[in-house]
Order: sequence, then C-alpha cells, then structure tokens
Amino acid sequence: MSKGTATQTDALSVTDGRTGKTYDLPITDGAVRAMDLRQIKETPDEFGTLSYDPAFLNTAACRSAITFIDGDKGILRYRGYPIEQLAERATFLETAWLLRHGELPSPKQYDQWVHDITFHTYVHENIKNFLQGFRYDAHPMSMLCSTVAALSSFYPNAKNIFDPEERNLSFVRLIAKVPTLAAFIYRHGKGMPFVYPDNDLSYVENFLSMVARMSEPRYESRPVFTRATEVLFILHADHEQNCSTTAVRTVGSSHADPFSAVAAGIAALYGPLHGGANEAVLRMIEQIGHPKNVKAFIEEVKAGTGQKLMGFGHRVYKSYDPRARIVKRLADDVFKEVGMDKDLEVALELECIALSDDYFTSRKLYPNVDFYTGLIYRSMKFPTDFFTVLFAIARTAGWLAQWEEMLQDKEQKIARPRQIYVGHGERPYKSTLSPK
Ligand code: CMC
Repeated sequence: MSKGTATQTDALSVTDGRTGKTYDLPITDGAVRAMDLRQIKETPDEFGTLSYDPAFLNTAACRSAITFIDGDKGILRYRGYPIEQLAERATFLETAWLLRHGELPSPKQYDQWVHDITFHTYVHENIKNFLQGFRYDAHPMSMLCSTVAALSSFYPNAKNIFDPEERNLSFVRLIAKVPTLAAFIYRHGKGMPFVYPDNDLSYVENFLSMVARMSEPRYESRPVFTRATEVLFILHADHEQNCSTTAVRTVGSSHADPFSAVAAGIAALYGPLHGGANEAVLRMIEQIGHPKNVKAFIEEVKAGTGQKLMGFGHRVYKSYDPRARIVKRLADDVFKEVGMDKDLEVALELECIALSDDYFTSRKLYPNVDFYTGLIYRSMKFPTDFFTVLFAIARTAGWLAQWEEMLQDKEQKIARPRQIYVGHGERPYKSTLSPK
C-alpha cells in the first residue's frame, strides 16, 4: 500500500437484523469508517450504531506514514527503513530526523540538526532549583514528567503550534533538553552535583558524560556502552500507536503545547505494562533470586495468580519482537565485556523455560524489547528505577513526529471517544448524610 493515499477497494454489506435494511459500508485500506455505522438505526430519531472497542484492540485512530509494524511477521520499519538496518548503521539523531521528516537527512541538514540540538542542550538555571525540591528518593519518572511539563512554562511561545518555526524550536528543545533533565534527575537521586552539557561530545556521549562525569576534565564513556545506548535509543525512538504515543496525540489534539503533550506521554510510559516493564523485569529477576527458582516462578505465573512474566508478550507482536532480537545480540556484546552475573543467568533460564512451555507458546508470548534492555542498563550501573527514563529520552523523537503528523492531518479533531452508558437512569436526590 502506498503511504498516505486512501484506496477504496470494496464495500462491506451489512444487513440490520432489526429492520432487514442493508447498508454498503466502503472498505478503505482494509477498514470501515466507524462513522458509517451511525446511519444504521432502527428508527430515524435514534442516535445510530456505535462501534465498541475498549483499549482500541481493533480500531485505527489515524493514518500514519511514520512507523510500520507487522506483528505476525515480526517486522518494524521507520519510514520504510528496517529497524535492523537503522540500528546497525544510523545514529539516533539521524533516526530522529528521519522520523520527523520522512527522509534521511542530507549531510548539510544533518550537520545543522546536530548543531541545533547541541546548541539547545542547556536548561534554564531555575530548573535546577525546581529539581532540588524533590525528595532524594523521588521516582525519576515522576521527576521527568513534571520537569518536562514545567518546561512549557519557560517557553510560552511553544503554544503557537501552527507556526512551523515555533514547532521546529520545540522539536529541537525537547530532543536536546530531555537528556539534560534526565541526567540532572540521575544526579539528584545520587546527591551528586549536576554536570553541564559538553557540546563537543556526541548526543549519547554527552548524555553519558552528564550522568557519570566526576572531576575529570572530559568524560570518556566505554565504547561498548556508548554503542549500546545509541542502539537502544534507536530501537525505542518510535513504535506507532502505543499507549504513550496515543496519550501524546490525544493531549496534542486539544492543541496543548508540545511540552505538555510529551509530559502526558511520559506519564503513560511510566506504567509497568508499557515502558515501566524494563524496570519490572529487573524487579522480577531480583525477586526470583536464583536460576534454581525459575521453574517454580513460571508455575506460579501459569497458575494465574495474577503474576505476569514481565518482559514477555506484546499487544502487536505475536511472533517475535524484532527489537528483542537486536537487543539480545547487544546484550551479548555488553556481557562479553562486563561479564555474566546471577541476574543474567536467571533471565536466560526464564527465557529458555518460557520459550519451551506450551502456556507461553500457545499464547504467542515471546520476549519483548524490555526483557533485555534492563539487563544492559543495569550492567551500565543505571539504577533500576531509571530505566524508563532512558526509554523516554529516545521516545521523545517519536512522540514529536507523531504529534506533528497529527496536527497536520486534516481529518483529526480533538480526541473524544464515545461511551456506552451503563449507570443508573434518572433518580431523585435524597441525602444519605445525617441531617445537621
Ligand atoms: N505473562 C503471563 N501471561 C501473559 C503475559 C505475560 N507477560 N502476557 C499476556 N499473558 C496472557 C494473558 O493472561 C492472556 O491469557 P488468557 O488468554 O489465558 O487470558 C493471554 O496471554 C493474552 O494476553 P492479553 O492480556 O490479552 O494481551 P494484551 O495484548 O492485552 O497485553 C501486554 C499485552 C504487553 C500488556 C501483556 O503481554 C503484558 O502485560 N506483558 C508484560 C508486561 C510487558 O512486558 N510489557 C512491555 C511491552 S513491550 C514495551 C512497550 O511497548 O511498552
């Protein structure tokens, strides 16, 4: 299917059993329009038929040309480019450009883009005071969500979302400043002084420097860690209409500024069923404690005690998460350098048992990207509760590309789902509080 162009191929004939009337609903790109159902009614004064789809299991909410996923075949492409090739050969900033503009940058465009991002890595000094207000043990995702939301107050012109220059500035500011905020948050948690950006370093090297630099004049990250971070950022940069992207699009659809919309994305990403899964995987592995306990844990999951095998399963991928395959190889490279540890052994045992167990294979539950990312980040000495922040740095690029696509889509309006009301009918108010 060519991108962007709607191709009508056929129609779906629906006969209403209540009236015997038949309706032809056009099928375009494999979809019928939910609004076409509205004409189906028993009597003319009725509202019309709704489609009911909790959690959007079978509803496309937009036409998008950014990311393609074939969950059955395990395919993920950004703007047509296979994720494997981008992870192998592109940089994160090149990927961020691609997601937004649809094409790879020319050398001149790339240099300008890198320059602009580098130029905007500093944050207003007041942000530091703001961060100091958080308790030492505040969750890094809570801090990131609120500081990104707060950035909106520093850039009031970001509200001019239909001005392409303002939009561009917001893209640059967010992609440039989120790593600085993330690193400051890390240092706050450790009680360490903030390290300012070093504009002579690459995007990833600068981030790692702001995280880890102590008294040395210039921080040099281990090449295997720089590479791992760059690849993980590329893998996490976008994933079409997931929970957090939907949050960004939904908030953005009210024409809120992009800092507020991205803060909504961060809030959604925080949850353990979404980006918070990489943290949950590590906590699960710590709880299991030893490879010998894996079998019993798997039995508990299968017994349906409410315990899930975190890092397994995906709403869209029903064969294999292609990102997981890349991350697994990356994890091998990292562990070759830093060595195996008990947690990794637990993870490998979990993977091995689950992949040969009918409970998981029959439900098409395979390791997802988050099963391994936490292990890599932990070997880099990132605290467990910081993993999702690393995910958020990368996903900022995808959220913004999706937000802009939504704004430019003439079919989009403020997001406002319908409901099926199942509560009480009208009833008279009678106080249940004792009379005064
Ligand atoms: N462990 C054990 N059973 C599971 C798991 C799991 N991780 N995931 C799904 N199932 C079972 C589920 O109980 C259900 O069983 P049954 O048919 O007997 O009721 C069946 O598999 C189908 O699951 P579902 O809940 O209908 O699947 P979903 O598409 O609604 O949920 C998911 C997808 C990712 C939320 C879920 O698989 C899950 O909670 N996984 C663990 C959390 C996780 O790793 N999330 C990260 C996702 S990847 C990163 C990202 O995109 O954010």
